[in-house]
Amino acid sequence: MITRIAIVGQGYVGLPLSLQFARSGVNVVGLDIDQTKVDALNAGRSYIKHIEGERIRAERDKGMFAASSDFTLIKGVEAVIICVPTPLNKNREPDISYITDTGKAVAPYLQKGTLVVLESTTYPGTTDEDLREVLEKGSGLRAGVDFHLAFSPEREDPGNPSSVVASIPKIVGGYTPACLEKAVALYSKAIKTLVPVSSCRVAEAAKLLENTFRGVNIALVNELKIVFDAMGIDVWEVINAAKTKPFGFMAFYPGPGLGGHCIPIDPFYLTWKAREYGQHTRFIELSGEINTGMPVYVVRRVADALNDRGKAVKGSKVLVLGLAYKPNVDDDRESPSYALLDLLKHRGAEVAYYDPFVPVIKHTREHPHFAGTKSVAWDRAIVAGFDVVLIATNHASVNYQELADWAPCIVDARNAMAGIATKPGQVWKA
Ligand SMILES: NC(=O)c1ccc[n+]([C@@H]2O[C@H](COP(=O)([O-])OP(=O)(O)OC[C@H]3O[C@@H](n4cnc5c(N)ncnc54)[C@H](O)[C@@H]3O)[C@@H](O)[C@H]2O)c1
Repeated sequence: MITRIAIVGQGYVGLPLSLQFARSGVNVVGLDIDQTKVDALNAGRSYIKHIEGERIRAERDKGMFAASSDFTLIKGVEAVIICVPTPLNKNREPDISYITDTGKAVAPYLQKGTLVVLESTTYPGTTDEDLREVLEKGSGLRAGVDFHLAFSPEREDPGNPSSVVASIPKIVGGYTPACLEKAVALYSKAIKTLVPVSSCRVAEAAKLLENTFRGVNIALVNELKIVFDAMGIDVWEVINAAKTKPFGFMAFYPGPGLGGHCIPIDPFYLTWKAREYGQHTRFIELSGEINTGMPVYVVRRVADALNDRGKAVKGSKVLVLGLAYKPNVDDDRESPSYALLDLLKHRGAEVAYYDPFVPVIKHTREHPHFAGTKSVAWDRAIVAGFDVVLIATNHASVNYQELADWAPCIVDARNAMAGIATKPGQVWKA
């Protein structure tokens, strides 16, 4: 009977999962090494736009949820769920140090019978090799004998109001059948549908398939966007027509490039691991090449639009609309908007951005030069002062009719201007 758990990593994945378990009657301690997050949570404040502070306060006040940076609390829990980042390093290789560091921090406090579940997206073998090793070494206990070990990938879709943790089926793979049984018992407290699989590796691979599938299909429509444009055909109209087929087709949409913590990164975890087995992941490489080339294509469209007005990119004022990587969220990780800003700046444009969800750019490892830059205000005189507005993210709260009324020229990488009254030659699809 599991009544008290720890969830390590209180980010986009760990926090909603913690609240779901707490709501389902499991006592949760949310562990994080970031003291500002711990303090915010204990004060009942959210730092993620789509999670209301009210939800945190409700569970905190019932005594079902508290945050901490004290890993000794692991001693008193029956299960530990790990939701820490899995980025790529500067050579674009998997960096699983957050997982192994967490394993090292958890291990000394592991008790006999405790269940450890990894949720971070990663290559097959991370749970039963890398994580198992650090847990066994640091605890003196053996996985599958003294403690349980499992992998269960997260399927959070931030910003999608119908994406509720409890109702998204969850894959679970165990190191042993007993580990699987224990993990299923844990998740069935909070999640309606569980999908048990035969091993941690199958569960890890299933997550990579899901994300690679998206990356490859997005690359396909990105390529077709350019091909159809050369033929004078609008790819958006084509996709909308094709998706009326009730079977065998799934709509994906083009854009200015991939963003977010998952799709641009996860497939390369698989590529890296495949090399160890002498295998090549050609679909992943090709789609990566197409998708990372998209910002260059979009900037070329900006240059075309300016050229049409007798202007050069150099010296022109360009406003990038949307810094978040997808609509209606405040998550700007891996956002292609940064590549667009960099490319335009490099070509001598004067760049600025507007994003109602990202009022100021935080310091990041990848784009330290943009730290502290503020979003411009949504104001007729300001927007009209730019030579081009480049729509990189189609936030629903933006008034696109006002944009059409104010901006002299719009380059639209999201089909956001569909159905808006515009002037002839004002909008360039990209
Ligand atoms: N964000 C998503 O939509 C999403 C969806 C599916 C899967 N994932 C995967 O889930 C994992 C977590 O992603 P996220 O978006 O929640 O990341 P995040 O950056 O929002 O959160 C990670 C948290 O872990 C904390 N942390 C880092 N190292 C730690 C350590 N050693 N001990 C304790 N806490 C530590 C950080 O301070 C941060 O609060 C990643 O592997 C990601 O690929 C994310």
